[in-house]
Amino acid sequence: MKEQKKKKIFPDDFQWGVATSAFQLEGSPYADWATWDPCLSKIPLVTDHYNLFREDLKLLKELGVNAYRFSLEWSRIQPRDYIWDEEAIEHYQEVIDILRSYHIEPMVTLHHFTHPRWFMERHPWHRTASIEKFLRYTEMMVSTLKGVKYWITFNEPYVILLGGYLEGVTPPGLRDVNRSLVALKNIFTCHGKAYDIIHQYVPDAQVSVAHNMSVFAPWKKWNPFDRVLKKTANYFYNHSIINAFKTGIFIVKFPFSRPVEIDVPIKDKLDFFGINYYTRIHLRFNPFKKMGVELRHMDIDGHGLTNLGWEIHPRGLEKVLRYASRLNLPLIITENGIASHDTEEKVKYMKKHVDVVEKCLRDGLDVKGYYYWTLIDNYEWLQGLDARFGLYRVDFATLERTPTYAATYYAYLIQSRSGM
Ligand code: BGC
Repeated sequence: MKEQKKKKIFPDDFQWGVATSAFQLEGSPYADWATWDPCLSKIPLVTDHYNLFREDLKLLKELGVNAYRFSLEWSRIQPRDYIWDEEAIEHYQEVIDILRSYHIEPMVTLHHFTHPRWFMERHPWHRTASIEKFLRYTEMMVSTLKGVKYWITFNEPYVILLGGYLEGVTPPGLRDVNRSLVALKNIFTCHGKAYDIIHQYVPDAQVSVAHNMSVFAPWKKWNPFDRVLKKTANYFYNHSIINAFKTGIFIVKFPFSRPVEIDVPIKDKLDFFGINYYTRIHLRFNPFKKMGVELRHMDIDGHGLTNLGWEIHPRGLEKVLRYASRLNLPLIITENGIASHDTEEKVKYMKKHVDVVEKCLRDGLDVKGYYYWTLIDNYEWLQGLDARFGLYRVDFATLERTPTYAATYYAYLIQSRSGM
């Protein structure tokens, strides 16, 4: 795909990155998820990135990115409650050192969906002790690891709660609204306190969560029930967290009932806002479905659906960026990508979304970075090994990595848009 010569819009310090998560690349024998999904028993180390990381980090150089978001696998670092694995900590320090030697800015995620098994068995998020355990881990990481300015405390806190506490499809596998609200308060409390701990050790740190934002639409525009659902979903998924960061109050609002307010100590505990954006979701009221809601992806604008059946909706990225700009903070797209076997599709997806970022910059939005999800094919939480989000294809039998055209194209896109 040809790039036309354009006026330079992306600033020199714009973060062109890719994002990954540890467990999805390297598994862990000590993680709750290792035994949660039977598919992992056949390939517990997934891409074996834990051993092949030096080679994989070279791919970042090949791409020409100047930033890399990755996560620490808590369960490798703290395989038992009172045991810290020095080698695992040194391993992640080496990752940071390599990145620094390549002039690539590391962005470290403390929590990306997985937990040590002991944590999930004894202190899951709805128990108060979870706070102390997570903060101990945070302090250990922040006081030990050197060379990290950008920190993400939690990847997609709402997804942790939806999967683990409302739908029961991820650990701890509960369907319990009351416990989900306790867990939410505990996770937000951890974020607020972790924010302070990080700043105590790294005064110029930049801290955020990576929040999953989606665009919602009524299944049928004329249907008032579908429209109410759209509003409710948007309020919950996109707005309530922004409001909580502005006010310190999380408001749960369901149609036709009184709102519930929960104090959460996160007011102003953000230096930028990390946004993971993938898709638009259509909603329909259906009394026979859980909570009366049916979700569907529809190919409305002709951009197609991904391998996972998600609608490709680049304009939605502008919507969520504009929405998030209410925070008056720099915005970083901490994830955006497509599951596809078709590398041309990947290229189109990437180009269309980067075009939207460019438009937003031209319109004056304070967007500081774009991280493509993801570097190499990996394990996808609910779909196993066939989602193919990678710029590099992984043969899971031989573990060989092969660049796809999307990798070449991303390198080209970075160069042509940034003048790097
Ligand atoms: C998550 C990733 C996941 C990706 C694609 C994001 O919401 O942070 O871990 O692989 O979506 O589903």
